Amino acid sequence: MKIFKKISQLQKWRKSQKKSIGFVPTMGALHAGHIELVKKAKKKSKLIVVSIFVNPTQFNSAEDLAKYPRTLENDLKMLKAAKVDAVFLPTEKELYPEGYRYKVMEEVESKILCGAHRPGHFEGVLTVVMKLLNIVKPDFAFFGEKDFQQLRLIQGMADAFFMDLKIVPVATVREKSGLALSSRNKRLSQQGLQTSRVISTFLKDKGLDAEEIKRKLLAHGFDVDYVEDHWNRRFVAAYIDGIRLIDNMRLR
Ligand code: PAJ
Repeated sequence: MKIFKKISQLQKWRKSQKKSIGFVPTMGALHAGHIELVKKAKKKSKLIVVSIFVNPTQFNSAEDLAKYPRTLENDLKMLKAAKVDAVFLPTEKELYPEGYRYKVMEEVESKILCGAHRPGHFEGVLTVVMKLLNIVKPDFAFFGEKDFQQLRLIQGMADAFFMDLKIVPVATVREKSGLALSSRNKRLSQQGLQTSRVISTFLKDKGLDAEEIKRKLLAHGFDVDYVEDHWNRRFVAAYIDGIRLIDNMRLR
């Protein structure tokens, strides 16, 4: 497994490859959800590139950025076991040589749900994904439905800018209880983890409407950002133990 820290090294390798490339961008603290993206990538493409970069421009507070779990050694073990061909570990200085003066913005769907509660978040996501895609130049890029609004906005960006690749969605990987796997789960207390399992239980219950779920989450001690229906899906964002969890499911 090749490990590239410099953009120029990755580009040199990329130019020497003739085979199709599948790309999985991540922020590390990898779990079975990320590995599922790698598995899907392996079905569609010959060579797999994974990036690990905790992107500062998509965080709303310095504290949230500082607290984001970092488990590089274990991440590399997991990627090696999954037979990934190349890992890209850029630095902030290399990815943002212009100092984040140029941004990719979306004006409609990025303003609701997480966009309404995390100002600037999706600009940060779209900008870093555009940069990464321009560096890696993959044939396919893989994104999880766990972050459905993000997936939708990246697909929209690829369409709007006629980007020459295919964005591939991957279904959310859950633990047996139904809880969506997330790097942020690693920061939950045992009690918080137990409580967070009700999110998917409520989402699955099609007899409940969004308002009822919101009331139930509040009763369980969550701080609720939103429970809303869009695009024939139901979306939840709520805090437990001061940690923000999101999930979504198809409605019909
Ligand atoms: P990160 O949260 O590390 O997630 C990387 C990819 O894994 C995303 O496409 C996300 O949707 C997917 N993913 C996470 N948990 C999943 C699960 N339980 N099931 C399926 N897929 C899952 O999302 C980001 O990083 C960043 O915003 C990024 C796109 C890398 C830009 O910085």
